This record gives sequence, structure tokens and C-alpha cells, in this order.
Amino acid sequence: MRLLAFEVLRAVDERDAYANLVLPPLLKKARENPGFETRDAALATELVYGTLRRQGTYDAIISACVDRPLREVDPPVLDVLALGAHQLLGTRIPTHAAVSASVELARVVLGDGRAKFVNAVLRKIAQDDLETWVARVAPPYDEDAEDHLAVVHSHPRWVVSALWDALGGGRAGIEDLLEADNERPEVTLVARPGRSTADELLAAAGEDSALPGRWSPYAVRLAEGGEPGALDAVRDGRAGVQDEGSQLVALALARAPLDGPDARWLDACAGPGGKAALLAALAAGSGARVLAAEKQHHRARLVERALAGNPGPYQVITADGTRPPWAPGSFDRVLVDVPCSGLGALRRRPEARWRRRAEDLEGFAPLQRGLLREALGAVRVGGVVGYATCSPHLAETRAVVEDVLKGRGGPAAGAEWIDARPLMPGVPALGEGPDVQLWPHLHGTDAMYLALLRRTV
Ligand SMILES: C[S@@+](CC[C@H](N)C(=O)[O-])C[C@H]1O[C@@H](n2cnc3c(N)ncnc32)[C@H](O)[C@@H]1O
Repeated sequence: MRLLAFEVLRAVDERDAYANLVLPPLLKKARENPGFETRDAALATELVYGTLRRQGTYDAIISACVDRPLREVDPPVLDVLALGAHQLLGTRIPTHAAVSASVELARVVLGDGRAKFVNAVLRKIAQDDLETWVARVAPPYDEDAEDHLAVVHSHPRWVVSALWDALGGGRAGIEDLLEADNERPEVTLVARPGRSTADELLAAAGEDSALPGRWSPYAVRLAEGGEPGALDAVRDGRAGVQDEGSQLVALALARAPLDGPDARWLDACAGPGGKAALLAALAAGSGARVLAAEKQHHRARLVERALAGNPGPYQVITADGTRPPWAPGSFDRVLVDVPCSGLGALRRRPEARWRRRAEDLEGFAPLQRGLLREALGAVRVGGVVGYATCSPHLAETRAVVEDVLKGRGGPAAGAEWIDARPLMPGVPALGEGPDVQLWPHLHGTDAMYLALLRRTV
């Protein structure tokens, strides 16, 4: 299993692969071996995800145990060391087993010489526990709070800084948020309204294997190890896998008060189709028609798959939301769930935090503003636009909306804020509004952002 975990780490490192895409086929192949057991898959998954998430902390510790800068250590050696450090400091694997298995792995993939080096470094690491190591290698909080948090909670410093700016408050909140990013998220299902119910999913999953959602009436949370694909309703598309934050965003847009007709809904950035499928199910209940648009053709196919079987009228098209084929003012409700840095979903993609750069934000901003501007153009006067991101970064959330409302970088939009908080009834800690920022540590959801706007002229 350690070899398999190593292969995934190399793929992530060498070809920017996504661990959650590389790991499953390797596990599938491994399952064909007669000796393979379910706990082997659990171990490999834990080794890969845990090592990637805690990489910042482990790098700081490894750095204290080698006599040259880490950039001068070969990446495959670093991967073996990080895997070893995770076993020693982040799992209950006994020390001798963690060291000997890592040295054996090093022998196979790196050769005898470098296996000796791995042995020496891991023996040093094994001398103390995680807490002692972190106290030694992290700069004191009072000297450099962001650097301290970056090492202790294994996030790049610029991400700590951006998340803290968005969250506000003192040390406790940001520490809780950073730790929540290091937890494996629950698998949450959505029972698409009119097609299945949360009760049906709960009954099918069994009492011990599922819980109702916290905030969405359509959500069901699976216990660890729960397999969504084992449920009929998921297999035939009446339910799906969807974070509760995404459900709340779609629900809030559908619930926003509207005068006049309410018959035409648009999802302008629909791929892969999670929110579009929930919107389409809600629209079917109220007699509205949904157009789901997505720029990338292959992702539009995913939207088609997500919407298949929807009881109400819908259409999926491949279209660029910044150069829309629809006439201005054609819709009553529009969702624009824009491409973003994904800093709100770090729990799901263990390698993402190390791959993103602060400069990426500059690339997203003009597209985000353009998509929001066109979304406001697509809705009729009096209609509602929901601007959503899966990032809490202020440059992608409030700043984009304010730029568009105030006409920075384009004509000012004739629109006003709608308070989104009452449209998420029962959800606590929604801040001062009118927009809403959800948080993993407060709501158990991804850090989704939602601004609701009503077109005025
Ligand atoms: C954050 S994802 C949307 C997630 C989706 N709403 C869901 O819940 O499943 C953003 C999507 O916008 C698409 N996209 C990017 N640029 C676009 C554009 N100019 N017009 C339309 N879609 C675009 C991306 O391909 C991506 O699928």
C-alpha cells in the first residue's frame, strides 16, 4: 500500500495530477490481488490524503532533520520522507513498522544508498511526537502569527492570510477553520425534490449509516465509508452527491422573493451540474423552465447526465456566459457560480492548497466580473441573480460584486442587494449580510459564498 501511495504522490508532484482521480483506479487494480483487504484501501487513502494535507508541517519537520535546503533533496526522496513522517506523526502505526516499511519502500523505489538517508532522517523524526516537533519548528505566534499558523496547520502562508482576511476575528476562529480544512469531509447527498426525499435516502442507507442534513431539508450525511453508489436513488439520478453549502446556495436563489413572472431560470456556469440539477428539480415543482449553460463541451455533457430524468422542462447548452446567446432580460432567476480559486473546498482536494498561487486570483477576477455583469444583463428588471463562488477570498467574493455594482472596469450595473441570510433559515453565524459566507468549521460545509442581487433598471 505504501508503494501505491508513493505512486500517487509522484503523479501529483510530477504531472500535477489530482489525488482523487489517480488513487481510485490504482486501488481498483490492487483489489484484483487475492490478498487485498478493505483496510489496505483505507490505509492507502489515509497515507495519500494525510500526507498531502499535512505536507507543509512535515516539510518543516523534515527540513529540521536534513543538513541541506529541501529544494536540494530529490522530490521522490522527499515523498518517501513525507509518507514516513505522516506514518510516524499522524497515524497510530507503531514507530518501528513506520520506519522499516518506509526504508523498505525507499530501497525499492530509490535504491540502497538513499534508503540509508531515509532511515537516518526518519529515526530523527521518530524521536519526538507531532506536538513537540511543531513547537520546535513553527515560529512563535507572537512573532509571526501567519507563519506560525501556516506551519502548525499546514497551509501556505498566503492562504492563511487570505482566509483570515475573509473570516475576520481572532486566533481561535482561524485555527478552527484551518483545522477543518485538514479533516476529511463527510459525504453529503441531496434528495432531488419531487424525485426522492431525505427520508427515503435515510431509510435506504440505514439508521447507522446516515444522518439528516444540518440545514438543507434535502440533505443526508453518510457515515464514514458510506457508498453513495450503493443507493438506488443515487444510481438512477433521483439523488446525488452534493455539499450542503451548494444546496443552500441553490435553495436561497430559488426562495428569493420575486414580483411578476417566475417561469424562466438560467444557470450560466452549470458544469458539472450539481446546482443545476437541484434548481431544475425545484423549478419543476413551481412550473419554471431551466436553461443550463456551460462553456466546456465535455462539462456540458456532465450537466446533461446530472439533469437526465428531471420531471420539468430544461435544456442544456454549451455557451460562453460572457458572450451569451440568449437575449437580454430573458430570465427571472439566474445563478452564476463562477470559476474560482477553490479555496473554499480545500478539505476535498488535499493537494490544491500547494498548487494554487496568489497570482491566480488576478486571472479569475476579470472573468468573474464579466460573468456577473452578463448574468445581470440576462435577468429581467425585478429578477434575481445569485453570484456564487466556492472560495471565501474577498477578491473573488464581495470585491467582484462591488466592482460590478459600482461600474469598476465596465458600466455600473443597475442592481441592488437582497439580504441572503433569511433565505437560509435556521443557519447560524451568517454574519452581517447582505451576502452570505459559509464556513467548514461553522457550518460543516464548503466555504461557499452567495450574493443575491435584484436588477433595478
Ligand atoms: C464552479 S464551476 C460551477 C459548478 C456548478 N454550478 C455545480 O454546482 O456543479 C464553474 C463552471 O463554469 C464553467 N465556465 C468557465 N468559464 C465559463 C464561461 N465563460 N461561461 C460559462 N461557463 C464557464 C467552468 O467550466 C465550470 O464548469
